[in-house]
Amino acid sequence: MVKVFVPRDTTALSLGANQVAEALEQAESGQGTGIQLIRNGSRGLFWLEPLVEVETDQGRVAYGPVAPEDIPDLLDQGLLEGKPGHPLYQGLTEEIPYLKNQQRLTFRRAGVIDPTSLDDYVHQGGYVGLRKALARIPQEIIDEVKASGLRGRGGAAFPAGIKWQTVLDADARSPNSPYSNRKFIVCNADEGDSGTFADRLVMEADPFMLIEGMTIAGLAVGADTGFIYLRSEYPVAHKILNEAIATAEEAGYLGNDVLKSGKAFHLEVRLGAGAYICGEETSLLDSLEGKRGQVRVKPPLPALKGAFGQPTVVNNVLTLAAVPFILAEGGQAYADYGMGRSRGTLPFQLTGNIERGGVVELAFGITLRELLEDYGGGTASGRPMRAVQVGGPLGAYMPESQWDTPLDYEAFSEVGAVVGHGGIVVFDDTVDMLEQARFAMEFCAVESCGKCTPCRIGSTRGVEVIDRIHANEQRDDNLILLEELCDTLEDGSLCAMGGMTPNPVRSALQHFPDDFHQDRPTAYRTTAGEA
Ligand SMILES: Cc1cc2nc3c(=O)[nH]c(=O)nc-3n(C[C@H](O)[C@H](O)[C@H](O)COP(=O)(O)O)c2cc1C
Ligand code: SF4
Repeated sequence: MVKVFVPRDTTALSLGANQVAEALEQAESGQGTGIQLIRNGSRGLFWLEPLVEVETDQGRVAYGPVAPEDIPDLLDQGLLEGKPGHPLYQGLTEEIPYLKNQQRLTFRRAGVIDPTSLDDYVHQGGYVGLRKALARIPQEIIDEVKASGLRGRGGAAFPAGIKWQTVLDADARSPNSPYSNRKFIVCNADEGDSGTFADRLVMEADPFMLIEGMTIAGLAVGADTGFIYLRSEYPVAHKILNEAIATAEEAGYLGNDVLKSGKAFHLEVRLGAGAYICGEETSLLDSLEGKRGQVRVKPPLPALKGAFGQPTVVNNVLTLAAVPFILAEGGQAYADYGMGRSRGTLPFQLTGNIERGGVVELAFGITLRELLEDYGGGTASGRPMRAVQVGGPLGAYMPESQWDTPLDYEAFSEVGAVVGHGGIVVFDDTVDMLEQARFAMEFCAVESCGKCTPCRIGSTRGVEVIDRIHANEQRDDNLILLEELCDTLEDGSLCAMGGMTPNPVRSALQHFPDDFHQDRPTAYRTTAGEA
């Protein structure tokens, strides 16, 4: 039987992967030859999805993007033997430059395995890290994470080892609470940033890696329970995670006695209700506890008083997903990648107006331009690129003069930008940066949790001020007012939602001043394609 792989992650499904799988099965049942159809996760080469792969003696051969109506032709032209000739033939998957040139540590199994097969996971190096962790005391596990230099991938880039140390050392006694003496691991899978999908892909393509990472975190700090706080817009990830958790429990990797170690670790998925602010860790914890998601005043830090008032590790999916590699290969092996204080790799996510969108996992230090040109292949519209927003909706818009900045937390900070979760959104020369600045203010107004005045009211006033600039009403005065409003948001907000909203606004003003002038070029005001 020939093994054929058709992804079943959200991207491939939205592009018709189920119909492609059905067409394949139907065509083959007619022939009577029989194929073994495996529903893998995506490798993250989204412009080729649905990417159909066939296993051959030389390795897996790829065809894409495949539509159901392509199947008869593909079969006629030797798809099952991995033959070249068909226009959708891409050659050996591992040799596609976009994939071949990556440094995949976290994503090395993505798209390779059946995400819900525990056997596949274990055969491809899974659970080595957990076994090593079980042989160590908590402090040794944390020392390994510290040695790796891993910093939180959710945005703030706080060192993971130091956070874990705080939770390990925390006093969990709370005499009046039913949760006294307990600690928790919370995985932030809210993935609210624009242009980001790497968390989802981890959960849909390699869920056991996240489960393993959380179990190791539990062992490290003495937590017996973990929660994955998942955005409700990810139903496929929800299903796959629940399937994987049930399988891990059945096989003894989760439960009261993890791999007969006497240590308990239980895992549960909790769905968010779809507010951007619920990605902020304290707001997330309120939501997790069944309350309205509103930012809590810090201190106390969640590491000391987090879920249900108990010491809690809150980490992003990618942070926790990096942990099995670190324990299996050693912290130093991870730290060998990267530059400066940004160690290891980051799965960059290329989106927006880009020819080849997808996930590109590379060591920190690559420049934005290399990602945009070598991997992204320029804009999808074919027009020149004008602005690139990195780090989500609260990240700066970067002009071409900054594209040679190496992707490194500190180097980005020096030019007034953020790496954040690694989401990269591209705009061509038809973008109107005044509109983008307005959008940032409007986004803040809509998504504000409402707890503090600068963010709740300031963002609404910000939209009005930008509208007045657009209408050319007292332009100079309003431009000064906008700067002052940004200062107030930055200095007076309780959390980074209000505190970072000035980033996109200021960068638009600073790098694209023409768009804010009365005589701004008309090209920026027309919709794509008309200019
Ligand atoms: C407005 C706002 C939204 C956020 N959204 C997310 C998110 O969607 N996912 C995430 O992991 N972190 C998000 N964060 C960061 C979290 O508050 C927190 O720093 C992170 O979950 C900690 O995990 P890490 O140390 O592994 O990065 C957000 C922060 C803010 C201020
Ligand atoms: S800055 Fe905005 S989101 Fe953050 S606490 Fe204040 S009102 Fe809430």
